[in-house]
Amino acid sequence: MENKKWWKEAIGYQIYPRSFLDTNNDGIGDIRGIISKLDYLKDLGITMIWLCPVYKSPMDDNGYDVSDFYDIAEDYGTLDDLLELIDELHKRDMRLIMDLVLNHTSDEHNWFLEARKSKDNPYRDFYIWADGKIDENGEMSEPNNLASFFSGSCWKYDEVAKQYYMKIFSDKMPDLNWSNPKLREKMFEMAKWWLDKGVDGFRVDAVAHLSRDMSFQDSDMEHFEKYKPDWKFFSNRPELHNYLKEFNEKVFSKYDCMTVGEAGGGATPRQALDYSGYDSHELDMTFTFDHCWENGAFGADTKKDEEIITNVISLKDVISKWQLGLYGKGWNPIYWLNHDHPRVASQYGDINYHKESCKMLCNTLYMLWGTPFVYNGEEIGMTNVDYTRLDQFKDVSAQNYAKFTLESGRLDLDQILVHLRRSSRINSRTPMQWNDQKFAGFSNVNPWVDNVGNYKVINVENQLKDKDSILNHYKKILHLRKEGEYKDLIIYGNYELLDHDNDKIFTYKRELNNQKILVISNFFKEEGKVDFKGFKVKKIIDNNYNDYSLNSLENLTLRAFESYIIEIE
Ligand code: GLC
Ligand code: CA
Repeated sequence: MENKKWWKEAIGYQIYPRSFLDTNNDGIGDIRGIISKLDYLKDLGITMIWLCPVYKSPMDDNGYDVSDFYDIAEDYGTLDDLLELIDELHKRDMRLIMDLVLNHTSDEHNWFLEARKSKDNPYRDFYIWADGKIDENGEMSEPNNLASFFSGSCWKYDEVAKQYYMKIFSDKMPDLNWSNPKLREKMFEMAKWWLDKGVDGFRVDAVAHLSRDMSFQDSDMEHFEKYKPDWKFFSNRPELHNYLKEFNEKVFSKYDCMTVGEAGGGATPRQALDYSGYDSHELDMTFTFDHCWENGAFGADTKKDEEIITNVISLKDVISKWQLGLYGKGWNPIYWLNHDHPRVASQYGDINYHKESCKMLCNTLYMLWGTPFVYNGEEIGMTNVDYTRLDQFKDVSAQNYAKFTLESGRLDLDQILVHLRRSSRINSRTPMQWNDQKFAGFSNVNPWVDNVGNYKVINVENQLKDKDSILNHYKKILHLRKEGEYKDLIIYGNYELLDHDNDKIFTYKRELNNQKILVISNFFKEEGKVDFKGFKVKKIIDNNYNDYSLNSLENLTLRAFESYIIEIE
């Protein structure tokens, strides 16, 4: 069996602090709000929180633009509040994972204010600078035409510095130069400071981008509007592994901490093993996102809603690739979404079968091996937004996308709104739905971003009362992982995909020391069938229709979004 570790057995919960709970009536969630809900989370089965950034920040990207790594944003509270949060978590045997933003700072960070002053400023080399291109008319433009993740160029001209700086996210987030050892030392120091304060680990933001290939020429570019989105020039490049090994050696390995890196940019299991294989000596886990978009919604802004359909076979393939590819070699985090994704209830679920589909999604994911990260609001089946105006999408990436797309004339506003409602990051950033009171119990004043109208029905208070609710289902399943007779099997057992070609139903088997379970889930509202001969039902652990009478798996019909967890002989 695998080596046991606390973080393999942990049950994580991601909190987007701005939208969790507001306790001082400014419409913005805060650290005290989180502290007041720790008992709720403990009861749900959570043992570890990943907190999105709460550092000082001008909030261009809601805190991912850090202006001081050693202090807390006023919006969220004080350093004392954070230390109290750590304390209150530890008292409850829970842990805190902070977001560690290494790729960039805010342009209001002191390092950048210094860097732009002159070429010989000691901080100049903390960032990535280049001169513009001059054309035959003497006009200056960006050093090259690579796009940023948030639309537009990945370069921005700085009037003070008289050069361009690289910024693969927003204009206000200049990228750090990790090839500079002085910068690296500053980051190591900062991470140590937080670990010494009692933080239990980090989710390492945008870690795949810490090194870049600067050889890109515009002649390499096929025409793509104006800027070419080609992430390979700044994703998963070999040099960054040296930086992470150094980080591990000097910092992470000195603590009993957990690190999980975000490798967007399409990392493969092979690449994930480079980051977080047991012998990589870099990180403990890697987040990737292939399985989050198996309905074809990613970047598909010309598709109609009816064309967005879950491709179950492809979803099985991706999940199996990670479950099998890392088993025994590295550890997977398991999650449906984070703060950059749409809500899974809308993505793979169906609001007309809200309970059934959300419970089915819970079973399918959280019976896999790996460390769960439940995203705040997922446990009650929160959905995508119902917004009708562009200004409601308060997110720099959504606004940039709309601006550039409107300018290009490629789509009109209505088409843009359809796409944003379906796939923008704001979907997961709406206020947590605590009850059916005004503003969903999130705040007593207008929240920073509008509530979703369905909070009157979909909210924590309702679901705590209803013993058959999605929330109580999550609680049951998370507790099944946490303690009791199936714990080791669920956490450490092997995984096998069954019935691959079934295009409605996802079935897999888990096994450890002769204990075996099957998870069988229908991803559609139409009925589906499986036919397993040779498996004998020992016990029905869960059925989301509360139907515990099944005794054979031959010719079994599954109702809309029906899901079984079954122990077999
Ligand atoms: C990561 C974060 C995202 C943020 C970006 C820049 O992808 O998850 O929310 O905008 O990095 O920090
Ligand atoms: Ca507040």
